[in-house]
Order: sequence, then structure tokens, then C-alpha cells
Amino acid sequence: NAVILLGPPGAGKGTVAEVLVGQGYKHISTGQLLREQIARRTVLGIQAEKLMEQGRFVPDDVVVGMIRNLLEKADGTQKFLFDGFPRTLPQAKSLDKLLSELEGTLESVVLLDCPDDVIIKRLSGRRTCDKCGAVYHIAFNPPSHGDRCDVEGCKLVQRADDREETVRNRLKVYEQQTAPLISYYEAKSLVEHIDANQSIEAVRNDVNERLVGVA
Ligand code: AP5
Ligand code: ZN
Repeated sequence: NAVILLGPPGAGKGTVAEVLVGQGYKHISTGQLLREQIARRTVLGIQAEKLMEQGRFVPDDVVVGMIRNLLEKADGTQKFLFDGFPRTLPQAKSLDKLLSELEGTLESVVLLDCPDDVIIKRLSGRRTCDKCGAVYHIAFNPPSHGDRCDVEGCKLVQRADDREETVRNRLKVYEQQTAPLISYYEAKSLVEHIDANQSIEAVRNDVNERLVGVA
């Protein structure tokens, strides 16, 4: 069974995912999986890097292939939390097909609503640990020790696609290619709207409350 986290870049999908991981969901972020491929300099990673640096999407068949691999390896009792997937209508339709082949169901689509000006502030201040993937914000969610990660004390870096002009392009691509998924899932009565323009705690609480019936 699966829940989708949907929302513009920087709305806080990764940050809110922790709540659901606490409830036993396995977190699958296609962005994170692609960044791992880039770090390992795989063929797929080298191709994806150029597109991601410009804020463009990686081809549908590449991401759908990654998801297919993960789902086929699962044991059937696992609950999945998709973060950053699906991002296009063809990806959404492929996921429907995959889930029905594997007799899984889509329980809910959590939509994080957030205005563009807030997103730009969040992404320009974001810092991530390139070792463990922990995510911070220099003002809204700073690490405890200067510019070091709380987990292993490793150095924090700025993501290559968090430069302002790339962020603007990511927002444009979201509007064009991902926003149409909202009506696709609304037609299936699956969408839970969450106001993501609140404190991290408030957003996490809302998600928790809204998914109690599901989880
Ligand atoms: P991906 O990694 O999925 O990036 P994204 O969707 O742009 O989302 P982000 O990770 O930027 O943001 P988030 O919503 O998780 O926010 P976060 O919690 O970090 O994808 C990257 C790229 O990979 C894509 O552009 C594409 O090229 C490619 N890709 C990935 N999936 C693909 C797919 N399916 N198909 C094709 N291509 C694909 O929060 C942001 C910041 O705000 C943090 O600093 C955080 O601390 C802070 N923050 C969070 N919540 C709050 C709050 N409530 N108040 C204050 N600060 C907050
Ligand atoms: Zn770390």
C-alpha cells in the first residue's frame, strides 16, 4: 500500500516524510535515489545530473524503472511513501498499473500547498548532509553545531539545483507537468490538502491527524 506526497519543490515533502516513516512507511524519494546515482557516477547518474542541474525532469521511463525495481523487491506487507514521484501524468498512470499488478492500493495523496515566495526562501536557505541526507534550513531548522550535521558531524552542502534561477525553473516545470496530477487524483477522491505554509511542527501535526484513519 502507498501514500504519495505531492507538492511544489521546497514545500517540505522530505521534512514531513519523517512523520510517516515513524508510522512504518518506507520513504522513497526519487530525487534522493537520483542524487545517490550521481554521487556514485553511474551511467544513469551522469545523464540525470545535467537535467537536474537545470531543474528539468529525468525521463519517465528512467524513474518508473527505478520504482518498478523497488516495488518488485518488496514483500507485499510493506507500506510505501512516495516523495517526488509521480511527477507527470504518464508516471501516475504507470504507478496505477504497477500497483494493480502487485495488488497494492493507493491510500492517499497528501498535497502540500505553499506559495512561491515562501518556497524560494526555503530552498535558498536549505543545507543538506551529503553523507546521510539530513535536511536543514539555516534560519528555520538550523543544525545544533554550526554548519555540521547533527547525525555524524559531517559537512553540510547546498544542493546544486537550489540556485535561485534553477529554483524558478523547477517551479515552472512543476506548474506545467506536475500540477495536473492534482485533478487526476481529485477525480479519484484521494487528495488531502495540507497548508504547508506553517511551522514544521504544525505541518507535521496536520499530516499526522489527517492520515490517522489511513495509517
Ligand atoms: P527532488 O529531490 O524530489 O526535489 P523537489 O521535489 O524539488 O523537492 P525538494 O527536495 O527540493 O523539496 P521538499 O519538498 O522535499 O522540501 P524539504 O523538506 O527539503 O527532485 C530533484 C530533481 O530530481 C527534480 O528537479 C528532477 O530533476 C529530478 N526528479 C526527481 N524525481 C523525479 C521524477 N519522479 N521524475 C523526473 N525527474 C525527477 O524542505 C525545503 C527546505 O525548507 C528545507 O531547508 C527545510 O528545512 C525547510 N522547511 C521545510 N518545511 C518547513 C516549514 N514548515 N517551515 C519552515 N521551513 C521549512
Ligand atoms: Zn549527516
